[in-house]
Amino acid sequence: MNDSTLYKAWLQDERKPEGDPFDTYRRLLGRIVVKGEQHARVLSTAVAELINGLQAMLGIQPEVLNELPQEGSCLVLRTAAEPVSGLAHEVPRWDTGRDAFALRWVSADGTERMELDGTSASGVLYGVFRLLFGISRGWEPVRLVTEEQPANQLRMINQWDDADGSIERGYAGASIFYREGEIVRDLQRVRDYARLLASVGINAISINNVNVHERETRWVTEEYLPEVARVAEVFRDYGIALFLSINFAAPLSLGDLDTSDPLDEGVRQWWAEAATRIYRHIPDFGGFVVKADSEHRPGPFAYGRDHADGANMLAEAMAPFGGLVIWRCFVYNCMQDWRDRSTDRARAAYDHFKPLDGRFHDNVLLQIKNGPMDFQVREPVSPLFGAMQQTNQMIEFQITQEYTGQQRHLCYLVPQWKQVLDFNTHAADAGAEVKHVVDGSLFGMKYSGVAAVSNIGDDESWTGHPLAQANLYGYGRLTWDPELSAERIAEEWADLTFGDHPEVTHPIREMLMASWSIYENYTAPLGVGWMVVPHYHYGPDVDGYEYSRWGTYHFADRDGMGVDRTIAKGTGYTSQYFSPNKEMYDSLEKCPDELLLFFHHVPYSYRLHSGKTVIQHIYDTHFAGAEAAEELMHTWAAPALRDRVDPRRHAAVANRLAEQAEHAKHWRDVVNTYFYRKSGVPDERGRTIY
Ligand code: GCU
Repeated sequence: MNDSTLYKAWLQDERKPEGDPFDTYRRLLGRIVVKGEQHARVLSTAVAELINGLQAMLGIQPEVLNELPQEGSCLVLRTAAEPVSGLAHEVPRWDTGRDAFALRWVSADGTERMELDGTSASGVLYGVFRLLFGISRGWEPVRLVTEEQPANQLRMINQWDDADGSIERGYAGASIFYREGEIVRDLQRVRDYARLLASVGINAISINNVNVHERETRWVTEEYLPEVARVAEVFRDYGIALFLSINFAAPLSLGDLDTSDPLDEGVRQWWAEAATRIYRHIPDFGGFVVKADSEHRPGPFAYGRDHADGANMLAEAMAPFGGLVIWRCFVYNCMQDWRDRSTDRARAAYDHFKPLDGRFHDNVLLQIKNGPMDFQVREPVSPLFGAMQQTNQMIEFQITQEYTGQQRHLCYLVPQWKQVLDFNTHAADAGAEVKHVVDGSLFGMKYSGVAAVSNIGDDESWTGHPLAQANLYGYGRLTWDPELSAERIAEEWADLTFGDHPEVTHPIREMLMASWSIYENYTAPLGVGWMVVPHYHYGPDVDGYEYSRWGTYHFADRDGMGVDRTIAKGTGYTSQYFSPNKEMYDSLEKCPDELLLFFHHVPYSYRLHSGKTVIQHIYDTHFAGAEAAEELMHTWAAPALRDRVDPRRHAAVANRLAEQAEHAKHWRDVVNTYFYRKSGVPDERGRTIY
């Protein structure tokens, strides 16, 4: 394994000094009693991870036993099925089938012991990583005592990797999975990735782009399944189920049939055979991810069928094997005429899917992007959450920073995700936050969870920007427990990644926590979104999408800007929310400032709740944002960090921050100049606008 600090991310395994609490662990963990499903691979992984971690951090070589020793300290690992006599605690009974664990520290009659119980081998694995995290942070054993189960059932990563080795919206090098049309021979890097993911509780992954091209269409054929199975094996060791994105038109594209009509008997048969074949190679295959009738991908519409027909056909094929069909709701008209003011892309997902509620089979989940548009720095929560009460649903976030600075700018996204998860849909009187839609509790869904588009590639640091590792870590932690605060996650990550030195980790935590708002300040204002260079989505181009077919407009003219999505005069999008959200967004007075231009078209002179006019807000935030970006660079350059972070990591981050500071000025000047020229309104403070 590559053992640079960049590569090891939050699993640094640095050797700990003599003294406590490490000496306590050296004493406690010299013997490990393992009780669990015989030969369970995940349990072996857990034991191996534990031994390696202890060796590296504490310099001990623990002895592995099958039975509790007569006396002395030890750590007992067990899964729920394994009674061990002589232990102080019963295995806890959790009420869900989720992979939970409990860590305990027992000190009585002169014996000290740690006990780690999991409801499953995966539960034990998660507990092992938590134990190692605690040691890494120098916590006393008693601080490690915990009982936890993941809030969400599916905790998934979506890779947008293509067979040619490129990654759609990837900003950290090439794919670790593919090269020149094939799955890579050496899967060591994939294994290291599985480890990182499991360490934060991820339990599912789809390994190819939702846009499935000619080559990846073949992943479900006899020719390629043995290759896919090799990858599945690696993830299996870490308790992660493998999914594939499929091409809805595969029977046709592969030349086997002359249709892919979901109601055609031959097509149904074809998919049934495909499922049988897949499960022969990968008995624990997770299922399919499907992008259909979206951005020119094929789907059921070609045959006059709807999304339920399409998804259910696949669901029937998967059902005998317990497989899932994850059907994406990112469906809208991407050939819109910009002159047409009646079509509103924001409405599309709800308009397409809400009428289908109740028609999907119970092994289908709809995967809904967090917002109605497309992973902008700020947008409202998708009104589909809560609206479909008889359909399994999961949320889709984007860890890769497509619209949030492409891992060249710092943008810690956990606060954004948290805001989305905490949003009250008002679909019920209580417990109607998005987090309770996706944890399945609100409507008692059979399947639910969270997915996110990965931000990794073959860059040594995984994520290009070393600090962007915090987004991958944070995604896992938040998905495990949406109640964790963004600060706490930032702090954990910084401690694990840079060592537990407050002089280092506090400024890093502060940088992370400020970064989303800094980025928002110098980019598109007040929730209107876009204003990026078309296709690449990096850097400012205010009118880049204004006269295009993508349905993403700001409608700025000399008097004002914003999109009227109100019921009376606009596109009526606000009607898709439950009251009182509907009224809040529909009303100009009640609409929160940060989303004002998403919902309303207003004059530049309109006064925000903040007391500023829209135009002055634009100037002020853009000056402030660019200044704060420069400040990030200075914080990082200060001796506290410069002298304590290893030179390679320090330099890698410093380079990115310098680019960000420069680019933020470019954003500032392009946006300010654009609106100054449109409106003719000068900056109250007389700063330079071009
Ligand atoms: C965005 C992104 C595309 C991607 C699409 C999707 O529009 O730019 O590259 O394919 O989302 O989520 O399917």
